[in-house]
Amino acid sequence: MLEVEGLSAGYYGSTVLDGISFASGPGITLVIGPNGAGKSTLVRSLVGSLRPVRGRIRFEGRSIESLRAERIAELGIGTVPERARLFGQLRVVDNLRIGARLGQHRVAAADFRADLDAMIALFPDLGPKLDQPARLLSGGQQQMVAIARALVSHPKLLIMDEPTTGLYPTLVKELLVKVEQVARDLPILLTEQNVVQTVPIARHVHVLEAGRFVHSGTPQEILADDRVRRIYLGEERTPSALAPPPGG
Ligand SMILES: Nc1ncnc2c1ncn2[C@@H]1O[C@H](COP(=O)(O)OP(=O)(O)O)[C@@H](O)[C@H]1O
Ligand SMILES: [Mg+2]
Repeated sequence: MLEVEGLSAGYYGSTVLDGISFASGPGITLVIGPNGAGKSTLVRSLVGSLRPVRGRIRFEGRSIESLRAERIAELGIGTVPERARLFGQLRVVDNLRIGARLGQHRVAAADFRADLDAMIALFPDLGPKLDQPARLLSGGQQQMVAIARALVSHPKLLIMDEPTTGLYPTLVKELLVKVEQVARDLPILLTEQNVVQTVPIARHVHVLEAGRFVHSGTPQEILADDRVRRIYLGEERTPSALAPPPGG
């Protein structure tokens, strides 16, 4: 559904993403990588907020790399950007209504009502908060609104950039359960630094370092990789695994 080929992008003439290629389909496609690897640059390139320097991006067979962000949203790519900002003075329900206007079709009032009910079923915490200004919500609740705002646009693909950053551990777990639930019906491209909790829920994983994919595979393959275990899971190799004992 999404095909990326030789994608390079950067800022002011510098190269950040250096020839990324991948395809993503149903389920969760996960891009993990440390700070500064280029995860957000990749997301910005895909959703049209940064014009790629080279390469092709196809969505449902159609080239989108030179389209504006609004057009890409209309085609059905929903996004939850890094540290997604809400309109803090607006009520939660109005933030969601804005999301409903972004998608491929304008959602009628009655349908919006139904979508709202679906979002409250997904995120029960938001039910009592609908009429509050968004800025009064906790960080975790704001992140839920940002995800709901993307979902009510009825995307065909949802791209999320590190949605669990800054949330405390129990909330991370809770949010990822929702993400997994949403991914049953909607393909998701997810970037994360949280390897331990996100790799197991992915269908396919790419490891992004310094603007390149250094490893790609199934969760099992990624978690079995020595380098991934050492760098991302902080596992030390036992001395005996490094070298045979002297004279032995
Ligand atoms: N708006 C920007 N202007 C200039 N450089 C940027 C900008 N955003 C990111 N960068 C640089 O691009 C590189 C990759 O950043 P980013 O895509 O944000 O990585 P990640 O999301 O994986 O942490 C970093 O070196 C960062 O400093
Ligand atoms: Mg980032």
